[in-house]
Amino acid sequence: MTVTKTIPLDAEGAWRAEAISVLEAGNIIGVPTETVYGLAGDATRSDVIASIYEAKGRPAKNPLIVHVADLDMGERYALFSDIARKLAKAFWPGPLTLVLPLIKDTGLADAVSAGSDSLAVRCPQGPLGELAKALDRPLAAPSANRSGHVSATSAAHVRDDLGGRIRLILDGGPSRLGVESTIVDLRHAPRILRPGALNSDDLAQTLGVPVPLADGTEDLKPVAPGQLSSHYAPSALVRLDVLPGDVRPGEAYLGFGLYALEDHGTLSLAGDVGEAAYRLYGALRDCDRPGVVGIAIAPIPQAGVGQALTNRLQRAAAPRR
Ligand code: TXA
Ligand code: MG
Repeated sequence: MTVTKTIPLDAEGAWRAEAISVLEAGNIIGVPTETVYGLAGDATRSDVIASIYEAKGRPAKNPLIVHVADLDMGERYALFSDIARKLAKAFWPGPLTLVLPLIKDTGLADAVSAGSDSLAVRCPQGPLGELAKALDRPLAAPSANRSGHVSATSAAHVRDDLGGRIRLILDGGPSRLGVESTIVDLRHAPRILRPGALNSDDLAQTLGVPVPLADGTEDLKPVAPGQLSSHYAPSALVRLDVLPGDVRPGEAYLGFGLYALEDHGTLSLAGDVGEAAYRLYGALRDCDRPGVVGIAIAPIPQAGVGQALTNRLQRAAAPRR
């Protein structure tokens, strides 16, 4: 078993030298981003990528997002069209992942893209991009949770899922957005593979055309496995669109706006979808305790990040594999 050390992202920056040396030695680390915490490692080393899959218990056919310091670094590994550059310039660093044609023989470990000819690229806010810049190489990073489980939005969540499996966690406090990046496939007409923290209206406004959700039935592989049935799931069973009067004995209720129950939690008393996104994963983890037989969740509006929230909640509520 590995001893897992947690260090704060202090202003003096002692974390920087430590994270760089741990990564250079071929270890993987938990790192905050503006969306959720990532489990990061050197994307050019196949032994490192293998250890990411192993620590998460992630199926080998599920590719990873490569995190770059900037657009220039991204262009070393994937083919950016004019549209891709436009989106990168508008939203990076930020919660947008682009799926692009992979450039072959760049030194990236094959397992990062799980053998596919496309690559998911993101330039995140915070220390992950800074570390990629310092190392002058991209860092592969899935969300820092055990495969299929709820994503981690604090260092404590990372420790709960991956403590004893990784050497280092950088603690940057709670994730600012709390839901994963929006994934856009740009190999054909732009489509959203995974709704996320970046609002699809903002994408459409930048491109001047609506960006539809991929319907998952099109013959364009691979689709993001986050689209598959049970995912983002706590161990308690989840029910959606539940009104306060329909909560069953033993269920924990997560309210929204006016739908609230005394002695139960709420995703946002003010009825704000952004706040609900920020709190969702932590709330699901908190409800996952002995004595709670299920989690009942109030109706959430589809506006803005509400689309991503509903997508995650449907996955959390899907029949278990
Ligand atoms: O906000 C985020 O995106 C976080 C932070 C850490 O950056 N990362 C994250 O990674 O959510 P992960 O591995 O938990 O989810 C990435 C999703 C997976 O569903 C994966 O299947 C999909 O991206 N993906 C990765 N590469 C892909 C590709 N080449 N084509 C289609 N989907 C891809
Ligand atoms: Mg994930």
